[in-house]
Amino acid sequence: MLGVMDIQVKKVSRSKISETDFNNLPFGKYFTDHMLEVDYADGAWKKPQIRPYQALSFEPSLAALHYGQAIFEGIKAYRNAQGEAFIFRPEDNFRRFNQSADRMEMPAVPEEIFMEGMRRLVEIDKDWIPSKKDYSLYIRPFMFATDQVIGVRPSETYKFIIILSPTGPYYASPMKIYVEEKYTRAAPGGVGFAKNAGNYGASLKASAEAKAKGYDQVLWTDAFEHKWLQEVGTMNVFFLIGNKAVTPSLEEGTILEGVTRDSAITVLRDMGLTVEERRIDIDELIAAYRAGTLKEVFGTGTAATISLIRELRYKDLVMTFDTETWKVSTALKKTLTSIREGLLADTHGWMFRV
Ligand code: COI
Repeated sequence: MLGVMDIQVKKVSRSKISETDFNNLPFGKYFTDHMLEVDYADGAWKKPQIRPYQALSFEPSLAALHYGQAIFEGIKAYRNAQGEAFIFRPEDNFRRFNQSADRMEMPAVPEEIFMEGMRRLVEIDKDWIPSKKDYSLYIRPFMFATDQVIGVRPSETYKFIIILSPTGPYYASPMKIYVEEKYTRAAPGGVGFAKNAGNYGASLKASAEAKAKGYDQVLWTDAFEHKWLQEVGTMNVFFLIGNKAVTPSLEEGTILEGVTRDSAITVLRDMGLTVEERRIDIDELIAAYRAGTLKEVFGTGTAATISLIRELRYKDLVMTFDTETWKVSTALKKTLTSIREGLLADTHGWMFRV
């Protein structure tokens, strides 16, 4: 049963929280006092431990470093006006984590370890949840292969860890996005839907080249024609065309099934909008831009939350937008923030009480 799991807890003798500047928290730079750590060996998960955040030690032959059996999740915890801690939709991330594990031939993490381990860890470090607007406690569960053998085969041992990072907004201002048509992120049958470390490593060259051209990130296109739109480097993407919101569909398995994507679809529908999950190509987008019907473009992600896109570049065509005038994405962002901060009723049961 959830809630009674035996977790060995060893706390720090002195918290480092007073040395952390909560007014300046770049994404993923600072970590809380504790971490959850669980080992998998001999076909079973061992007893979870919560212990001081610390370095790990491995031999250079660590399997994860060589062949990339490594997956992760991103989740956020918030504190409401009464000071109570909540985690946003963690069960959805739990399900996705095990889908990634399955694709990477790694063992599933039991729900009790993932959920109750995370709850206990956040409870212990709850003073680290920032209260500043748009700030949160970012939760990073991850698992990697720990066999110290360089044969190419699934590892027989793994480590599941959760670390916590108090963090500010990932993208502070509206973004400039480069439509990528040289590199490919994912193809059908590949690992595009999984949150495996390699997907992010493989994206870095494309985003570095986009940055050199003055863009924040790339918008990935399909592997064959480089015209069907997939997702942005760190987030799913939505287009408001006329009075409909359109977001690329999941069925080819090439994009991440974002929890914030799903929340955005739900809130947009609550707002009375039609949301279409379907294939959309760059030609349709350009035609809508030229016709003046491409109203808003934004990304959704746990780290990115709702990030407005002020410029999209495809080849030599630069499409610019005046995000100041946008109503839909700003209302969506406000609604999601208000639910997370406990200012709006949680009608969908998204807030998990710590
Ligand atoms: C997230 O949104 O949580 C992500 O994992 C995206 C990125 C920071 C890796």
